[in-house]
Amino acid sequence: MKNILHIISSPRVEVSASRKLGKAVIEKIQEKYPDVVVKERDLSKDSIPILEEVHINTFFTPVESHSQEQAAINEYSTGLISELQEADIIVVDSPMYNFSVPASLRAYFDFTSRAGYTFKYDENGPKGLLNNKKLYIAFTSGNIYSEGPYQVYDSNVPYVKNIFGFYGVTDVSVFRAEGLSIPGIQETAMEKAIEAIVID
Ligand SMILES: Cc1cc2nc3c(=O)[nH]c(=O)nc-3n(C[C@H](O)[C@H](O)[C@H](O)COP(=O)(O)O)c2cc1C
Repeated sequence: MKNILHIISSPRVEVSASRKLGKAVIEKIQEKYPDVVVKERDLSKDSIPILEEVHINTFFTPVESHSQEQAAINEYSTGLISELQEADIIVVDSPMYNFSVPASLRAYFDFTSRAGYTFKYDENGPKGLLNNKKLYIAFTSGNIYSEGPYQVYDSNVPYVKNIFGFYGVTDVSVFRAEGLSIPGIQETAMEKAIEAIVID
């Protein structure tokens, strides 16, 4: 039995394209592995705070010295990390928002990038601590970034790949529904993206 963690980052619910693509990825995984258990981390429902000094101080204070406030912050952060640790497969919905990921996903990374939990440093440099996991990225965008003149703006997918790579998750497949704002492309982009999903 495999555990899937589905990280949803669009603030939109009904009309969200990335939720649709992410859901299609989950469904294809379920076709291949019928007994998977899916856990959703919907960042639009349970907002993660913007990183403040109190959070950073918590992350760099030994657990045994935590104040009550720091203990609560640490428990919240390590709870998010436990979901990543328990997952065999991670599906991230990652829509392009102003040439980046939605702020909620950035906040998620701020609360899960923790030395000793998701990575560590040794004499060889950084080492990811989340190993033997598969990552699927469900990327959606108004414009096209995988090829053509705007490829230099392809900042979302490389960023998500880099963060997870830093965590040790290096087996990655990317599915893109692009051009969702471009007449002539938008009509079929999602259908084609869903058809192109291959689960390995
Ligand atoms: C606030 C906002 C910012 C956006 N910024 C970009 C952008 O920088 N580049 C782009 O190609 N599309 C942009 N788009 C279009 C989205 O990437 C596209 O609609 C995507 O499907 C959004 O995902 P969602 O439907 O799951 O929310 C933006 C859309 C919104 C609502």
